[in-house]
Amino acid sequence: MAAMHEVPASPDVVVVGGGVIGLSIAWRVAETGRRVVVVDPAPGRGATWAAAGMIAPVTEAHYGEEALASLAVHAAERWPAYNTDLEAVSARGTGYLRCGTIVVGADRSDRLALDEIRAYQASLGLEVTALSGRESRELEPALSPNSHGGAHVPGDHQVDNRLLVAALTAACRAHHVTFVADRVAAVDRDRTGAVSGVVQDTGIALRAPTVVLAAGWDLASVQGLPPGTLPPVRPVKGMTLRLQARALAPRLSQTVRGLVHGIPCYLVPRHDGALVVGATSEERGTDQTVDAGAVYALLRDARSLVPGIDEYELVECATGLRPGTPDNAPVVGWSSVPGLALAAGHYRNGILLAPVTAAAVADLVAGRPLPDVMAPFGPERLLGHARGAPAAGTAAR
Ligand code: GLY
Repeated sequence: MAAMHEVPASPDVVVVGGGVIGLSIAWRVAETGRRVVVVDPAPGRGATWAAAGMIAPVTEAHYGEEALASLAVHAAERWPAYNTDLEAVSARGTGYLRCGTIVVGADRSDRLALDEIRAYQASLGLEVTALSGRESRELEPALSPNSHGGAHVPGDHQVDNRLLVAALTAACRAHHVTFVADRVAAVDRDRTGAVSGVVQDTGIALRAPTVVLAAGWDLASVQGLPPGTLPPVRPVKGMTLRLQARALAPRLSQTVRGLVHGIPCYLVPRHDGALVVGATSEERGTDQTVDAGAVYALLRDARSLVPGIDEYELVECATGLRPGTPDNAPVVGWSSVPGLALAAGHYRNGILLAPVTAAAVADLVAGRPLPDVMAPFGPERLLGHARGAPAAGTAAR
């Protein structure tokens, strides 16, 4: 396939994958003056496109994931500065809303389960306040009179994921990032085993001393690497629905997350009356079809929390494949192959973790060590080998 702009003869860095992670890395590395190429058949159109855009370090904190929760909190703290930089360089709004989140249960046992999760989240030092059903409806009058309360989480916010893609693309272009609309078939290596570039599906070779794999769920399809170089990443399908409020429909002022007879559900309101309802979590390989039963179940559960969505138009059903890892945490750092960095496996938290991941990879490319906050998430965690050294030519310039 043709490049959208002329590819530099000798890029410094090739980023494989143009989701929120790959685009953020490309922008942050390019702003240091390096020549960056992003290779992706459809940048921003994978899991990032289907996402709801929640920036949710608290309500995505699950049992046994203390290290990930700590990274998530750090990432959320970086979001305002990342967003300010991004809006300035792209001259576009991202729809970043510091709206907070309210958590409710559909029945008494949901409420009890939410109480336990809240106690766990509080034990991690996360900011979460218990609410009765009445208190939750005072904060969010569109909630069902049958809802059972739960918690208020003032620090869980959101961004419009699709405006974010547009802003990141513009930021990349402002820093002369080149986009190649193709898949990467393989990483190319020289006689020493170090990275020398990539080979596209079309057979075109792209030479570069540094390659960053940010290929989402498709990581395993990249060939040319010794066994054990890549961490295990699997696709986990998620479906979201996009609704639009009609004129007199009740609107939400913040994100609503609920448990409905044990099944999680979220409703993320945009400022223009759009509402994203999610999400399924399906281990069905690379299938991305829209299941009628899943649409029904999502609408049924969302409606039980916020009955007024009956007055909304159903605009779109979107599916994407989250890149899941065995411990649900990302893999960021140099691989065992010199010159090959990994930014993989961001699973349910790609948008939240984009700023901190991009900063970490920019540090690596500049010859600095992985930041402390990212140190627990290096590839050796899942692969059991020592970190590879950067290739010559990847130090700061
Ligand atoms: N972060 C929400 C989801 O993956 O559904």
